[in-house]
Amino acid sequence: MNLTEYIDSKRDEHLNELYEFLKIPSVSAQSEHKPDIERAAKWVASRLTAAGLENVEIVPTKMHPLVYGESLHAPGKPTILFYGHYDVQPAEPLNLWTSPAFEPTIRGGNLYGRGTADDKGQVHIHIRALDAILKTAGKLPINLKVMIEGEEEVGSVSLWEFVNANKPRLKADALVVSDTGMLAAGVPSITYGLRGLNYYQIEVTGPAQDLHSGIFGGAVPNPITILCELFAKLHDKNMRVAVPGFYDDVAKLSKAERKALNSLPWKAAAFRKTVGAPGLSGEKGASMVEQLWTRPTLELNGIWGGYTGEGSKTVIPSKAYAKFSTRLVPNQNPEKITKNLERHIRKLLPRTVKFKLDLHSSGKAWVAPYTHPYFEVAHNALEKGFGKRAVFIREGGSIPFVTQMYDTFKVPCILLGFGLPDENAHAPDEHISLENYFGGIKAVAQFYQGLGNL
Ligand code: BES
Ligand code: MN
Ligand code: MN
Repeated sequence: MNLTEYIDSKRDEHLNELYEFLKIPSVSAQSEHKPDIERAAKWVASRLTAAGLENVEIVPTKMHPLVYGESLHAPGKPTILFYGHYDVQPAEPLNLWTSPAFEPTIRGGNLYGRGTADDKGQVHIHIRALDAILKTAGKLPINLKVMIEGEEEVGSVSLWEFVNANKPRLKADALVVSDTGMLAAGVPSITYGLRGLNYYQIEVTGPAQDLHSGIFGGAVPNPITILCELFAKLHDKNMRVAVPGFYDDVAKLSKAERKALNSLPWKAAAFRKTVGAPGLSGEKGASMVEQLWTRPTLELNGIWGGYTGEGSKTVIPSKAYAKFSTRLVPNQNPEKITKNLERHIRKLLPRTVKFKLDLHSSGKAWVAPYTHPYFEVAHNALEKGFGKRAVFIREGGSIPFVTQMYDTFKVPCILLGFGLPDENAHAPDEHISLENYFGGIKAVAQFYQGLGNL
C-alpha cells in the first residue's frame, strides 16, 4: 500500500483518535480547565510517541505545559520544527452550539466541535501524517522536532521563555505550522504573512463605590459613559484609527504585491455571507483583502460594567472595563503603539475618572518571502493532497510564535492551513471540513516525504 492508500484506509481510525483529543476541554483562558490542559498535554505526548517521536517531554511552564518531541535519524536531510497548539478558546456562549462544543459531531461533511479547526484538528493532521509515514516506510525521511504549546490562545507568554532557554535544541532549517486557513474550499493555500497583535484591558474608575443613580445621578461622572465616549473617539469617519502616530511606520504595499493579493480568487460575496451583517465597514482607500491582511486595526473585544443581570437596577457604577486590541502590520512597533495609545487615552479621558491600562500580550506582524525550495515541495504536496494548485496568501490573524521564530532563526516559515474562513474559529459551531482534514493528512505526509527527497 502506498502512503495515500494507507491514509485513505484509516479514515475511521483518524477520526476516532481525533474525537478523543477534541473531547478534552483544554481552554487555556479559564483556570477551572487547568486539569483538562494537563490531560490534553498528556494526550499529545502519547500520540507523538505513537507516531515515532522520541524523548517526548511534557515541559512545565509558569502557566500551561508544552509538549516537545523529536526524531533525528536522517543525517543530511532537512530538520523541520513543527509547531502547533493544543489549547482552545472558551466555548461560551454554550447555548449557541448546535451540538455540544466538546462532543465532536459530524454534520454535512463537517466535523463540529471546539478546536476542530483551531488548532487540534490541524495538529492531528500532522500526527496522522507522521503515523502513516512510519507505518508505510518504517521511518521518517527527515529530522523532525515537534513543539505543541498550551498557551497560544492567551498570547504564548511562557513559550518564549522556553524557546530562549532552548535555542540550540530548537534549531531547524524551517518552521512548519498548520494553524491558518485556506482562501476558500478547494483552494489550498500557503500563508506568507500574519498580522501582529497587542491586547489590552482598561479599567476606568469614577466614584469610590457604586451609587444610587437617583440620589447621585446628575452630579457624578459615569465611568461607562466616559469609556464609551473614549472608544467613540478612537476611529475617524473613514474608519482609520485616530491615535496619533498609529500609521507612521506602516509599510507601503509594493505594486506587485498589491496586484497579486487583489487578483486572488477571494470572493467578496462569500465574505459578506460569512459575516452576515446588514453591511460592511472598513478603512477607506483599501480593498477588502488589503483591509483584512495588510492594514492595522483597533477593535473593542468586550465592554462591561454596572448591572447587566435580570430586570433593572438603578446604579451608577464605580468602574467600567473594556478589552480591546490592535492588529499590527509591518513595520509597526508594538511598544511604540502601546506608548502612543496610552498617551492618547490619558489625553482623552477627563480628570473626573482614573484609569488603568494593562497589556495582556504583544506581538509584531510577520511577512516573509516564499522563495526557498521547501515552498516548492509544499506546493507540490498540497497539489497531491487536494488535486489543485495552491495560492500564496496573507491573513489577518496572529500567531506570535511565527514572528518570534522568524526573527530569531531567520528560517523559512511554511504555513499550510486547512481551516476555512466560515469555520467559526473562536465562535459557536466551530468545524473543520472532512475533505480538508483528510486532504490535509495526505498533503502533509507528501510534504514530509518530499522534503526527504531533496
Ligand atoms: N490560529 C489562530 C491564528 C489565525 C487565525 C491565523 C486565522 C490566521 C488565520 C490563532 O489560534 C489565534 O487565534 N491567535 C490569536 C492571537 C493570540 C495572541 C490570542 C488571534 O489571532 O487572535
Ligand atoms: Mn490557532
Ligand atoms: Mn485561535
